[in-house]
Amino acid sequence: MRGSLPINGAKNSALKLVAAALLAEGRTTITNVPDIADMHAMADVARHLGVNVDASVPGTFVLDVPGELHTATPPELVQRLRASIVVLGPLVGRQRRARLAMPGGCNLGSRNIDLHLAGLARMGAEVTYGPDYVEATCERLSGANIELPFASVGATENLLLAAVLAQGRTRISNAAREPEIGDLVAFLQSMGARIQGTGTSELVIDGVDQLSPTHHAVLGDRIEAGTFVVAAALTGGDVTLTGVDPEHLRLALEKLRDAGASVSGDATTGLRVRAGDELRALDVVTLPYPGFPTDLQPQFLVLLSQARGTSMVTENVFDGRFSILGELSALGAEIDLEGHHAVVRGPRPLSGRTVTASDLRAGAALVLAGLVAEGETRVAEPHHIDRGYADFAGRLRALGGDVERADVPVDLEDVAAAP
Ligand code: EPZ
Repeated sequence: MRGSLPINGAKNSALKLVAAALLAEGRTTITNVPDIADMHAMADVARHLGVNVDASVPGTFVLDVPGELHTATPPELVQRLRASIVVLGPLVGRQRRARLAMPGGCNLGSRNIDLHLAGLARMGAEVTYGPDYVEATCERLSGANIELPFASVGATENLLLAAVLAQGRTRISNAAREPEIGDLVAFLQSMGARIQGTGTSELVIDGVDQLSPTHHAVLGDRIEAGTFVVAAALTGGDVTLTGVDPEHLRLALEKLRDAGASVSGDATTGLRVRAGDELRALDVVTLPYPGFPTDLQPQFLVLLSQARGTSMVTENVFDGRFSILGELSALGAEIDLEGHHAVVRGPRPLSGRTVTASDLRAGAALVLAGLVAEGETRVAEPHHIDRGYADFAGRLRALGGDVERADVPVDLEDVAAAP
């Protein structure tokens, strides 16, 4: 892979900024919005709540938020998108109630929302839920001290969004520190919210009575960048990525250097990755930021399948995130699962066949595997990839990858026959 590529706005920020826009009546503009399925789904959720969303200019969402929002979302909309759970905080905070279908999204093991609900309850919300809905009501939320047992990204975001209009001070301890949360804090501050501690695991929010609409550019997507960085290292390439801050990928880039690639550049010159002569095995442990990102774990499994030696990949964030192992083994990788550790022995040559994407990042990782497998690899269910990567095939092709989107449905009998 050779050449330079602009990185899109971060999916895992942009989705939450749409929810944050609900907090203020008026016109909010969000730019550098990635053109991905999840964003269109989130726009539909906002529309259903009464917001006029103009997405006619590529990369820009203009949201006209009414004085009164609807407070319920239908199952068919919310099942498509787990992230839509973050409309809970703003709706209770601004409209005193919300009733949401239980979210769908990736199937990465048990994806609970208990920390979201427990935090809202501590702020005074009356929370009830059934197998397919969650409801929260409160005349006015009050600030509270909330200690998260796990640095949950979604819970941190939902509670932030609830606290900015609450009565008094909220302290969120053990808050997630992902860069996307920093982007959300900056967005809320530009609306008039009073938040301290951005980037740390202690967020202090002093509620205000009203927020104003705003204008904000989404930060670069560190996970999209990390995916292309692995593609470059895998294929003996030399790739420069612009529009992303390498600081947000620091640990993943350090691992790439350990694996033998050379990494240089910064947010202004662009992040440059040149593959080394060979790939060396190494260990990876996924953890909340600034730990190694779980969203790059499948891509690194592919990389390490081509590295010389034995690597250990430990997944600590999601209990169901090794679904790709069967597909990678079918391609020829040697990976054994031991609890939440995957032991990878390499290098092992991969040979192309039909495989199936099970979720967004696993799907992208299978395409990367296809870039180094002998012969043709077909990845079925590519709609998973469309959720988080705009024109993934076209952008890989722009860097020299031999990838095309086959609109004809893959011969699923072939897939079904896979061991
Ligand atoms: C966000 O998911 C991202 N999604 C995920 O990216 C990312 O992998 C994850 O954060 C971790 O970085 C979006 O931002 C839309 P969590 P989220 O709350 O908020 C458990 C991608 O590919 N948990 O930090 O759901 C949960 O079950 C996606 O772009 C509870 O038990 O992540 C999971 O095991 C995949 N109870 C772990 O914590 C709760 O109330 C991480 O969840 C909340 C979470």
